[in-house]
Amino acid sequence: MSNLELSTLLLNWYDANGRNLPWRVKGSAHPDPYAVLVSEFMLQQTTVKTVLGYFEKFIRRFPDIESLAAASEEEVFSLWQGLGYYSRARSLRETAKIIVNNFGGRFPRTREEVLKLKGIGTYTAASFLALAFNLPETVVDGNVIRIICRLYGLKDPVEKIKPLIMQKASALTSQTRPADYASAIMDLGALVCTPKNPQCLICPWQNACLSRGRPDIEQIPARGKISKQQKNGSVYLITDSVGRLFIRRRSEKGLLSGLYEFPWTAEGELPLANAADTGLKITHIFTHIRQNLSLYCLCTNDLPLTDGFFVPVKELDGYPFSTMMKKVFRRACTAKII
Ligand code: ADE
Repeated sequence: MSNLELSTLLLNWYDANGRNLPWRVKGSAHPDPYAVLVSEFMLQQTTVKTVLGYFEKFIRRFPDIESLAAASEEEVFSLWQGLGYYSRARSLRETAKIIVNNFGGRFPRTREEVLKLKGIGTYTAASFLALAFNLPETVVDGNVIRIICRLYGLKDPVEKIKPLIMQKASALTSQTRPADYASAIMDLGALVCTPKNPQCLICPWQNACLSRGRPDIEQIPARGKISKQQKNGSVYLITDSVGRLFIRRRSEKGLLSGLYEFPWTAEGELPLANAADTGLKITHIFTHIRQNLSLYCLCTNDLPLTDGFFVPVKELDGYPFSTMMKKVFRRACTAKII
């Protein structure tokens, strides 16, 4: 079957079965590039299902690129709370500022320009240009890799055959309807060619697929083992004599930057005399690290730390916390230690 026949089959399937997503318009209307940009940032590490609720709220509060560029980082963070990977929120706001200040509010339309914005790599650049402007860019995410490997029976570890996958994905991309094609192949991965239990019988590519119905289809694509590094650290719930909790804001740079937290250390303990080990623990998975934290508590009015302040527990909601710190707080509440 030719590439053109394959892409036509997929587009016909999409016209009948594609998802209606709020940042997408099906048919001939043009999408709002701002909505595409926001959704692509949110979707970088997060599933469509989770993003849906956040996207609607975000767009209601910041309906266009100008309102986002004018917002404070705290405001943007507070709407991002719970999505995790907060550097995306910071980059999105910086990107909005660049577009408003350097491009006069006009969205860039070339790969070179888009790659110069903040927080945009080759994948997001391609999906933004394809989805927002119908430009013939090839989108290759985890879904596309799985589909291509199955379609062509590629069983080598993905890390070894990336260029071949890119070349095959690019050859299939529709030149006439690249935006719909990008959406279509994402939907095929989400709805039909799923990691587990793929629905080969309803797949528009079933007659061309070299893995259709095979018992080992779930093992494609093959992945080299990536083991996460473990870190064992501690986190400190420090109260003063009126029960307020000590929090601090992380610096502007690096991991979880700008978010609030309880004092913690990724490994070992902090030098806080009299802190008591509660026996409670949480684990949080970062991209490459499994972070274990033991919860300590301490009641003092004479704290050696000067980089934070005490807040009443009821007011904690007003401060954007990382997902890991929320986990710590929930664990402490459930165990009734605060
Ligand atoms: N994953 C990344 N971008 C996406 C999009 N625009 N639609 C659905 N899933 C996606």
